[in-house]
Amino acid sequence: EKGGYDYFMLKEIAEQPKAVADTLLGRIDAAGELRLDEVRIPDSVLREIEKVVIVACGTAFHAGMIAKYAIEHWTRIPCETELASEFRYRDPIMDSRTLVIAISQSGETMDTLMALRHAREQGAKVLAICNTNGSTIPRESDAVLYTHAGPEVAVASTKAFLTQLVACYLVALYLGQVRGTKWGDEVLAVIKELSAMGTHVEEVLTTMEPVRELARGLADKNTVLFLGRHVGYPVAMEGALKLKELAYMHAEGFAAGELKHGPIALIEEDLPVVVVVPSPRGRSVLHDKIVSNIQEIRARGARTIVIAEEGDATVRPYADHLIEIPQTPTLLQPLVATVPLQVFACELATARGNEVDQPRNLAKSVTVE
Ligand code: F6R
Repeated sequence: EKGGYDYFMLKEIAEQPKAVADTLLGRIDAAGELRLDEVRIPDSVLREIEKVVIVACGTAFHAGMIAKYAIEHWTRIPCETELASEFRYRDPIMDSRTLVIAISQSGETMDTLMALRHAREQGAKVLAICNTNGSTIPRESDAVLYTHAGPEVAVASTKAFLTQLVACYLVALYLGQVRGTKWGDEVLAVIKELSAMGTHVEEVLTTMEPVRELARGLADKNTVLFLGRHVGYPVAMEGALKLKELAYMHAEGFAAGELKHGPIALIEEDLPVVVVVPSPRGRSVLHDKIVSNIQEIRARGARTIVIAEEGDATVRPYADHLIEIPQTPTLLQPLVATVPLQVFACELATARGNEVDQPRNLAKSVTVE
């Protein structure tokens, strides 16, 4: 049932192009507009939403962090993303004009379930993004948008994460479409780009051998740091989480802008630091800032592992290892930038002799608070 792969995780990483395509299937019509009829919240209600709150745990939380950037940019609706376990217990402010989005692969995560129950008690509308048909979270929500990743067996989430991102983009773009935001033209262009992302993920998967080799060479390290800005920041956090849970290594994901506020003190000779670089096209300020971050850490002896767009010549001189990913719009980049980090963590775990599909102390679905 592992389809010739040594681990379910490897199989599930390889299934990502299809999972991404399947999650888009039937949701974009011939005119290039979104059709999300299954989301049974009337457009009239969606037009009145004043705030979006996303709640989730772990990897699903990282998808929600990325969704915040997309929702605020494409719809101009204020959006906050919070860990479900924190949200529930701080008496959050919500009403019938709040859309709460609960993201969960399993649909059974107790922290997320408690958060959405609390939200509904306050009168908020709850939309679930979920991979498991008929599970508790969608049953208790007002509406559900299913991700079509297929069953995810490995404890570490991979294909479910990519499809959670796709579902978040769909919801963000749909809100933009329904509300006719000033980003209307951009929304149409992005829907088109989104359709091509499965192919881009496939391209990334064909270039992973150097990443595996790099990972094997780092098997005796104690710490790996991950840096990113904007949507690259949650990608960095996801890269760190994968490494912790699979390789049992100390790993941390930082916002690159925070470096100088403390973490830069951690940089020492030969410390591996993974940096997720945004596209040099579009928001070039972001790109310039991260290039100077790479220079800063390299000047202090760090071993820089740089994930950057193909053709991005500016980062080359500062990259000890360069991992190239296809050109995509900035907001969609996490779909391709995360894949090398999954492969990296999986290979490091294997090199350290760990059980990839069943990391110690972890369960696939966390049904206690
Ligand atoms: C990490 C991982 C966990 C889950 C988290 C939420 O690889 O799998 O962090 O993402 O426990 O689970 P779901 O999405 O089922 O609510």
